[in-house]
Amino acid sequence: MIESDQNVWRGGLTQDLSHVLMSEAQIQSRVAELGRALTQDYQEKDPLLVGILSGSFLFHADLVRNMNLAMAVDFMAVSSYGDRTSSSGVVRILKDLNSSIAGRHVIIIEDIVDTGLTLDYLVQNLQTRHPASLKVCALLDKKEARVRDVEVAYVGFHCPNEFVVGYGLDYRGRYRNLPFIGVLKPEVYRKAE
Ligand code: PRP
Repeated sequence: MIESDQNVWRGGLTQDLSHVLMSEAQIQSRVAELGRALTQDYQEKDPLLVGILSGSFLFHADLVRNMNLAMAVDFMAVSSYGDRTSSSGVVRILKDLNSSIAGRHVIIIEDIVDTGLTLDYLVQNLQTRHPASLKVCALLDKKEARVRDVEVAYVGFHCPNEFVVGYGLDYRGRYRNLPFIGVLKPEVYRKAE
């Protein structure tokens, strides 16, 4: 049984996890710090925070609540993994932005940068739309897995090269609702491969 901050989390969701990597309190404290940094850096810039669905939905929602300035949100949905555990490198746009970003200060919000293939595609794609500036804020940076060099201006935590789930991150659509981030036991995804 894995313990979260205040209570023992429901065993049904955590029996597949080996341990907690970032607790709910650690995540919330770091997200508040990132929110303060973005508030300072984007004063008077009316930034557009583009959440990349689905993984970033909790991070995006918590981050914007820690930003004390005028801003707007938008979302893109892309898929690069499907039901697999490693990136295929093929990015599909499932949902595009609702409006133009020309002349806007855009911040891409990601839950995790792994190989960097998704982000590399997104940055190149959004740059063609002529934003005033384009930066990336990612909760987790898994540097060891990188195959494409992409610049991440704001990083929550460096992430070990393990299969992590929770706080938006999934395996086969599950575990996104955990308020903490944990490591999935290898036998869980190995038996499905
Ligand atoms: C995950 C994650 C990033 C991407 C990172 O998305 O949210 O977008 O993979 O991997 P990369 O750096 O190797 O490209 P996924 O396609 O799993 O979809 P999801 O956000 O809906 O879980």
